[in-house]
Amino acid sequence: MAEELKLDKITSLAKRRGFIYPGSEIYGGLAGTWDYGPLGVLLKNNLKNSWWKKFVLSRDDMHGLDAAILMNSKVWEASGHVGAGFSEMLVECKKCHKRFRADQVEEKCPKCKGEFTEKRQFNVMFKTSIGAVEGSSSQVYLRPETAQGIFINFKNVVDSFHPKLPFGIAQIGKAFRNEITPKDFIFRVREFEQMEIEYFIKEGDWKKQFEYWLGQIHEWLLEIGIEKKHLHNREIAEEDRAHYSKKTIDVDYEYPFGKEELVGLAYRTDFDLKAHGLDYYDEETKETLAPHVIEPSFGVDRAVLAILNEAYQEDKMGGLSLASASEASRGGEKRVFLKLNPLIAPIKVAIFPLLKNKPKLVKKAKEVFGMIKAEIQPVMFDDNGNIGKRYRRQDEIGTPWCITIDFDTLESNTVTVRDRDTGKQERVDIKELTCYLQERLK
Ligand code: GAP
Repeated sequence: MAEELKLDKITSLAKRRGFIYPGSEIYGGLAGTWDYGPLGVLLKNNLKNSWWKKFVLSRDDMHGLDAAILMNSKVWEASGHVGAGFSEMLVECKKCHKRFRADQVEEKCPKCKGEFTEKRQFNVMFKTSIGAVEGSSSQVYLRPETAQGIFINFKNVVDSFHPKLPFGIAQIGKAFRNEITPKDFIFRVREFEQMEIEYFIKEGDWKKQFEYWLGQIHEWLLEIGIEKKHLHNREIAEEDRAHYSKKTIDVDYEYPFGKEELVGLAYRTDFDLKAHGLDYYDEETKETLAPHVIEPSFGVDRAVLAILNEAYQEDKMGGLSLASASEASRGGEKRVFLKLNPLIAPIKVAIFPLLKNKPKLVKKAKEVFGMIKAEIQPVMFDDNGNIGKRYRRQDEIGTPWCITIDFDTLESNTVTVRDRDTGKQERVDIKELTCYLQERLK
């Protein structure tokens, strides 16, 4: 499959099947914004929960946080984001007035071949104002990174929990950047979500901790279903690093449009805590210091895109090796399926009565649906169209198992469980069905 086409196919499937819709679509859209639909929300929440479980809940050195998006503007002055710190170089076409990031274009405008203006700084933070009176005293910014919400609460968390170094504070939340050229579906957008950890350490440990966190980033990406061979570490040169960083490695992913950043790992030194005038009293050494910081920063939307790209498959299902006659009869027909890790898949199981006009089958299928739903969520019930069509619909949204209640079920209390990836079917006793699925969802 041509890689350029793949992004279009993923974007179109995402819209058609209720994962991700273009933002403000009925009013002509709003560039750089996307809305997550019913299945997209489930997928995104599964990713965020997996991250939170690994990096917060299953550790004893990590504290969670959910800080406000709006913060006092002094936060951004101190952090260096106001001013040159968080700017892009911008050029404008003198003819069509389109704006571009200077590092992403050649000499002439790609749209109309017009000439560009001189480069100028453009701060990508969104401004808004607070209260009824507009003016510089009421001006606030939408946060361009969640990290500062963590730094300004450093003292609060230390005072409440008295953690010993090293320890971390983690946060998942929205961030906003007025990107000059939003592009590539949900890759570069103006409103997105980050999952960030600020890990506070003693200065002398930074190299060891940097290596450790690089390993942790890779470990989680593999756990959610990204192939190792699609990930590449790229060290960022000094002149391209963010103003606060002494070393940065971006973990790039092979998107359909090329290798680009998925996760960033930065050694932020004591830059931020010092900038906010914050320090830490070390009970052991009886000294007051500003801890240093290692920051793994994950983009939720980029992780969703990488997962969809990994999972998107086209194959020809059919042939006599399949147990189901209805699938075999469709042998050779192209199908699209999302080979999602079952833990990340939005719908875990689908339940079908073989025929919707046979009350006994429907009643039994509803019973099985209720039984599974009590233990595993979400489960979908579908009695629309023939079984082959129902399989295809579930394949496209990545449901790992489809369960069919047929006439044999009424005699033997068994159902067929069909596997998404192989199309193979197994008969399973209803009494063992919940355990059968739970085993595979571990
Ligand atoms: N606190 C550090 C920080 O914000 P960053 O490399 O600018 O570092 C971290 O951003 C992550 O946030 C990126 O690796 C990416 O996954 C995500 N991200 C940044 N800008 C984005 C955008 N415009 N659209 C989608 N995701 C973005």
